[in-house]
Amino acid sequence: MVYGRAPPARAVGVKKSPAPSRRPPDQALPGLAARVAATAAFRRVIEDGAKLDDALDDATGGLAGADLALARVIVATALRRLADIEQALARHLNRPLPTRAGLTRAILVTAAAQLLYMRVPAHAAIDLAVRQAKADRKAFHQAGLVNAVLRQVDRTPPGQAVTPGSNIPEPFGARWRARWGDEAFAALAAELVREPPLDLSVKDDAAGWAERLGARVLATGSLRIDAPRGAIETLPGFSEGAWWVQDAAAALPVQLLGDVAGRRVLDLFAAPGGKTAQLAAAGARVTAVDISPTRLRRLRHNLTRLRLQAELVAADALHYSAPEPFDAVLVDAPCSATGTARRNPDVVYHRSLADIASLARLQAEALAHAAGLVRPGGLMVYCTCSLESEEGEAQMARFLAERPDFQRVPVAAGEIGGLFHLIDPDGDVRSLPGQAIDGAGSLDGFFIARARRQRSSLSDR
Ligand SMILES: C[S@@+](CC[C@H](N)C(=O)[O-])C[C@H]1O[C@@H](n2cnc3c(N)ncnc32)[C@H](O)[C@@H]1O
Repeated sequence: MVYGRAPPARAVGVKKSPAPSRRPPDQALPGLAARVAATAAFRRVIEDGAKLDDALDDATGGLAGADLALARVIVATALRRLADIEQALARHLNRPLPTRAGLTRAILVTAAAQLLYMRVPAHAAIDLAVRQAKADRKAFHQAGLVNAVLRQVDRTPPGQAVTPGSNIPEPFGARWRARWGDEAFAALAAELVREPPLDLSVKDDAAGWAERLGARVLATGSLRIDAPRGAIETLPGFSEGAWWVQDAAAALPVQLLGDVAGRRVLDLFAAPGGKTAQLAAAGARVTAVDISPTRLRRLRHNLTRLRLQAELVAADALHYSAPEPFDAVLVDAPCSATGTARRNPDVVYHRSLADIASLARLQAEALAHAAGLVRPGGLMVYCTCSLESEEGEAQMARFLAERPDFQRVPVAAGEIGGLFHLIDPDGDVRSLPGQAIDGAGSLDGFFIARARRQRSSLSDR
C-alpha cells in the first residue's frame, strides 16, 4: 500500500496528540478486545499470509461469543474491501506512513472498515483505534494521525468505488477475469464484497425448519438465512442436531450420488464432515477418511451432535486401502478453496499460483488412487471448491483420458433443483459466486463431476 499517492490538497494537517502516555489498552473497555484481536489478525493475514481462522485463533485468546464474531466480521470486511478502504485512507494521508509504524496501518484499515461498511458509531471506532495506537510501541507516535485521518474518513462521503474487481488482489483478479469473462467477473467481484448468507443442510422437514429458522428453502433443498444474526449455536434445532452449516453448492456432490441408502460409500478427505453427514443422513454405510486426527475429532463431534453414524479412519487417502471396493467414492479433494472467497476472504491473500499447481498434482493422485476403490459399475464423484480450472475441468478431462474404464455421467438439471445454467457443456457442475440461482443470491464456487466405472465383465454385474 502506498499512502503517499493522496492528492496533497486534501491532506489533513496532523496535529500532535496531547502528551499521550503509552500503556496497554484496557481490554475490559467494551469492544476493545475485539478491535485489538481484529487488528492483530488482519496484520497476520496481510503480512504473513496467515489463514484468517488461524490468525484469529492466535489473536483472540480468551475471546468468545459476540466479541469473537465481531473481530471476525471486522477482519473479513477489511479484507473484502481492502482496495476501497485504502483509497479512502489515501485521500487523507499526505505522505506515506513511516516504514516502522508498527500496527498503524492495520489499525487504520480495520477502523475504516467499521466506519465505512459496518455502521459502527464514529466515536467508538475512532476512540478504540486511537487507544490501540497509543498502546503500541511503534504506532504510539502515530496516534494523532490515526485520530485525524479516521475523523476525515468519517466526515467524507465515500468516494467513487474503485473499479470492479480491484478489491480482488492479483494474480486472482486478472486470472478470474480472463477465465470467466467480464460479466461473470463483475458479478463475482460484487458478490465477494458482501457478507454471505448462512446455508444449512437439514436431516428432514426442510419446510418446517425453514419456518422455525426464518429461512427459505432453495431449489436444491438447502435452507438459506440471508442475513443471519447471532451465534449459530443459539439457532433453533442446533442442539437437537436437526441441521448443519453447509453452503448450498457444497451439498450438491452428495446429491449426485443418487439414492445411497444401504450402500457402502467411501468419503475420502472427509473432515469436518458436511458431506459425511449428508451421506449418513441418507442412510449410506459411510467410511470417512481424513489424514488429520484433529479434524477427525471435529467430524466425530459434529456427527455426535447430529446423532449420525459413520466409520471414521485416520489415514492418508492417497494410500488408503479396503478389503472390498465401494459402491460409490466421493473425492472432495484438498484444493485452493478460492471458490469459498466470500466466506473466507483471506484465501486470495494466502494462496499462490504455486499452491494451485501443487494441489493439482495432489488431486490427480487422489483421483487415480480413488478410482481403484470404486467397484465395477460403481460411481465416483469428484469435487473441489475452487474457481481454478486446473483443480476442476482440466483435472477431470485428464482423468477421463487416462481411465477409459470410467465414463462421465452427465448431470441433469433435475438433480440440482433445475439449475440448468450451472451445468457446463460436458455435463459437469460449475458454480460461481455471483451467478444468480433461484432469483436471489448465489453459491460458493464449486466444480463437480461424476463418472461411472464400467462393469468389466458379466461376472461383475
Ligand atoms: C476440502 S476439505 C474436506 C471437506 C469435507 N469433505 C466436508 O465436506 O466437510 C479437505 C480435507 O482433506 C484432508 N486431507 C488433506 N490431505 C489429505 C490426505 N492426504 N489424506 C486424507 N485427508 C487429507 C484435510 O485434513 C481436510 O479435512
